[in-house]
Amino acid sequence: MVLPEFSRYQTSPKRSVLYKTASLIADGFLFVGGASLAISLIWALLTSINPNPLFETIFTTTQPTSNDVVPSLNTVYSGVDSPESTFYDDPELSYSIDRPVKNWDQKRKQWLKHHTHFAESTNNRVLIVTGSQPSVCRNPTGDHLHLRLFKNKVDYSRIHGHEIFYNNALFHPQMPGFWAKYPLIRSAMLAHPEVEWVWWVDSDAVFTDMEFKLPLEKYERFNLVVHGWSNLVYDNKSWTSLNAGVFLIRNCQWSMEIMERWTSMGPKSPDYEKWGKTQKSLLKDKLYPESDDQSALIYLLLKEREKWGEKIFLESDYNFEGYWLGLVNDLDDISKSYIEIEQKVEILRRRHAEKVSEYYGLLREEYVNGIVKRRPFVVHFTGCEPCSGEFNPTYTWEACWNGMQRALNFADNQVLRRFGFFRPDLLNSSLLLPLPFDFPLVW
Ligand SMILES: *[C@@H]1O[C@H](CO)[C@@H](O)[C@H](O)[C@H]1NC(C)=O
Ligand SMILES: *[C@@H]1O[C@H](CO)[C@@H](O)[C@H](O)[C@H]1NC(C)=O
Repeated sequence: MVLPEFSRYQTSPKRSVLYKTASLIADGFLFVGGASLAISLIWALLTSINPNPLFETIFTTTQPTSNDVVPSLNTVYSGVDSPESTFYDDPELSYSIDRPVKNWDQKRKQWLKHHTHFAESTNNRVLIVTGSQPSVCRNPTGDHLHLRLFKNKVDYSRIHGHEIFYNNALFHPQMPGFWAKYPLIRSAMLAHPEVEWVWWVDSDAVFTDMEFKLPLEKYERFNLVVHGWSNLVYDNKSWTSLNAGVFLIRNCQWSMEIMERWTSMGPKSPDYEKWGKTQKSLLKDKLYPESDDQSALIYLLLKEREKWGEKIFLESDYNFEGYWLGLVNDLDDISKSYIEIEQKVEILRRRHAEKVSEYYGLLREEYVNGIVKRRPFVVHFTGCEPCSGEFNPTYTWEACWNGMQRALNFADNQVLRRFGFFRPDLLNSSLLLPLPFDFPLVW
């Protein structure tokens, strides 16, 4: 649907600047001598924000509706689309994973060219994508847990300036469960051409170091970053040699192609059953017979390494995600050792705005790196299913529940401190204390 006003604006963007300016004057908002002066004012306003304004940027300040509203600083840089046609205008382009995307790199580049204010710092733009099932959880505490797990991701995103998309719709009827993320990631790439990375984070993963910043510069040469160990992939051929529950994937054509190949082993494939058998015979420790996305990725590394391997980075320097069972019991001790450091180092207990948390995280590095057991970055509750309440029979639901409370409160304490509070007991979410000045020297 094209608004009549919009099509007019499309054919003559220059005129529409004048048209817009004239109506601003008519409205009496910018009551100045002439249109040219008004334009130079707008120009000055733009140059004060962006030293290199392009005409394109100016054109986007005009609203395609007939209501003459003075563009706020916000609408100068966002909210108004370019009149130039992009991949969005191509009826052939489909959001469905059943239809391959071609030349995505060029399409994305062209869109960025027409939306120049996003072109800067594109390389660091990250969209966190996560989600859960469309219906109410069977486990009575499942929805509560999902809310807390989501809050944790929102907190991390806000602190680091990432965007977040939470989805609870099934984008492809034949891709449920762990396969559901691929149609979603693909759509997220199309919906957010301005982001360089999509960061898939399973709903049952918890950020437990809220200051830790992704080392994106390290991943410059790669398109997919997964927590894993190459010796366990290539030598042991183990199902747990990597984890597909948390990964970074670059918004590019390569990613579109690997997801296509990856999902060709999924339930929408006529060969789904066959793939399950193939994976099981390749990965001896694989638990269940159905083809799963983690096995599929290991398969690609083992069998199609030449095609994909070079662009896949297996991160093992830190807990890009870590199995909860080996981590949650250390959280109390880790809290204690971080507090001891703060008791010694004044700058680390200085109160500060949440926005500068990354800076304090960097300062802290010097005192934690290699000295104390550091906070795990992400604790992943693989084997505990908050929504169904099911769990791996080698442990109890109580262990899952307590582990999640510990991890969530451990993370939340880092957030709450910026708001003046903390929880002294990681297992009691209701107990909250005000944070005294110069904590933890005084408490
Ligand atoms: C990997 O394989 C090596 C050699 O066979 C073995 O010693 C090691 O225990 C295996 N590691 C794991 C985690 O299975
Ligand atoms: C948690 O703290 C609240 C508030 O102080 C208290 O009423 C409650 O008894 C505590 N629960 C447990 C299990 O200790």
